[in-house]
Amino acid sequence: MAILETQNLRKSFGALTAVDGVSLRVEAGTLHSIIGPNGAGKTTLFNLLTGTYRPSAGRILFDGRDLTGTPAHRVAHLGLARSFQRTNVFPAFSLLDNVWVAAFACAPSWKGLLWRRADRYPEVRARALAALADVGLAGKAGQPVREISHGEQRQLELAIALAAAPRVLLLDEPAAGLSPEETKRLVALVRALKGRYTIVLIEHKMDIIMSVSDRISVMHFGSLIAEGTPAEIQRNREVRRAYLGGVAA
Ligand SMILES: Nc1ncnc2c1ncn2[C@@H]1O[C@H](COP(=O)(O)OP(=O)(O)O)[C@@H](O)[C@H]1O
Ligand SMILES: [Mg+2]
Repeated sequence: MAILETQNLRKSFGALTAVDGVSLRVEAGTLHSIIGPNGAGKTTLFNLLTGTYRPSAGRILFDGRDLTGTPAHRVAHLGLARSFQRTNVFPAFSLLDNVWVAAFACAPSWKGLLWRRADRYPEVRARALAALADVGLAGKAGQPVREISHGEQRQLELAIALAAAPRVLLLDEPAAGLSPEETKRLVALVRALKGRYTIVLIEHKMDIIMSVSDRISVMHFGSLIAEGTPAEIQRNREVRRAYLGGVAA
C-alpha cells in the first residue's frame, strides 16, 4: 500500500513550473529515491510534501488522507519528517537538548506535558536518548553541538527528525559536503533505518542510490520520466540520456 502518494502535483513560480504533474507512489516500508539533475524540482517536491509550499495544482495523500494545503507544522505532527534543516539546530545547546526539544514538540499531548504531566518528562528524555542512540551519538549526548564534527551534525539532524517518531522520513542530499569516511557512516545509518521507516531519499551520488534504494523515480524538468528498481533504472535508455550519461554504462 502507498503510504505517500501525489496526484498530478504541480508548483509554479511565476512562469517557471518547478514541479509539473508529478504522480508518485511511495510504498510503506520502502526506501524510494528521487534522482535527477540540478534544478529538476526534487527539493521543491519535498517542500510540497512537507507543506512548506502550497501546490499550484494536484493532491498529496498521506496514509490515504488528503494532506493538500495542510500547513507544515501539522504535516510534521502527522508523521512526515524532513531531515537536514540546519536551522533547527542550536549550536550552544547539548545534543540531547536539541533532540529533546524535537521529541517534546511532537509528544502526543504537549499541553498535558507542559502544564500537568511533569512526570512524563522522563519519557521525552528517553525518546530523545533513543533517537541519539539510533544514529550512534549516545556517547556525546551531553556535548554542545558546536563541538561535534560536520558529519556528526548530520547524524544529529537525523536524530532530530527521528525524535518526532515519523512514519515517513524525507532526506534531501544527506551526504552533500561530507567526507568519504563520513559519507560511509551516513549510508550505513540510512541502511540501518531502512525497514523501520519509509524513507524518501534525494541524492546525487549514484553509488549510494543504487546500493540502498528499493525503487527510484527519475525527475527531469519537473516531471517524472521513469520509475523502477535500481537495475531497471540503470538499463533505462531515456534516463541514461537525460541524466546518467555514461556513468551507469
Ligand atoms: N522559491 C522559489 N522561487 C522561485 N524559483 C524557485 C524556488 N524554489 C525553486 N525554484 C526553481 O525551481 C527549479 C527547481 O528547483 P529545485 O526544486 O531546488 O531543484 P533540485 O532540488 O532538483 O535541484 C529551479 O529552477 C529553481 O531555481
Ligand atoms: Mg535540491
